[in-house]
Amino acid sequence: MGILTILEFPDERLRKIAQPVDVVDNSIKTLVEDMFETMYAAQGVGLAATQVNVQKRIIVIDVSENKNEPLCLINPKIVNQLGSAEGNEGCLSVPGFFEPVKRAEQVLVQALDKEGQSFELQAEGLLGVCIQHEIDHLEGKLFVDYLSSLKRQRIKKKLEKIHKAEQR
Ligand code: NI
Repeated sequence: MGILTILEFPDERLRKIAQPVDVVDNSIKTLVEDMFETMYAAQGVGLAATQVNVQKRIIVIDVSENKNEPLCLINPKIVNQLGSAEGNEGCLSVPGFFEPVKRAEQVLVQALDKEGQSFELQAEGLLGVCIQHEIDHLEGKLFVDYLSSLKRQRIKKKLEKIHKAEQR
């Protein structure tokens, strides 16, 4: 078990497309545990494997207030979606920035759980947003991609400045 390093925008590795998980074996289970540990330590509500430089279709989420409702989705697929809603989003890979993004209001998602069992989940509100946001990561997509290029460039420059300062 351990805390993994979270890649930050504009790291090009965040643009890689994740591959489906064939078998949910012990190495996958360990990765899922590490991802939860990393997400909780960073006080996030969701984390995709892409963000820790693993190109596998795995996301972990916990939108509960007491951080006691861990949800793991392996090979998640949105099979239906309804409506649209706009809400402020942030991302552990884009620290310090929160911007409005338009998403489906409700999604029906199919996935495997951390034991490899198939399940379906209907989600709305923060959970619905989070699922869509994390699945985007698996496609190499970030919430800043929904913003104007001017806004995205500003965020990029600010983060690059911070990254440079950290390297000194
Ligand atoms: Ni994110």
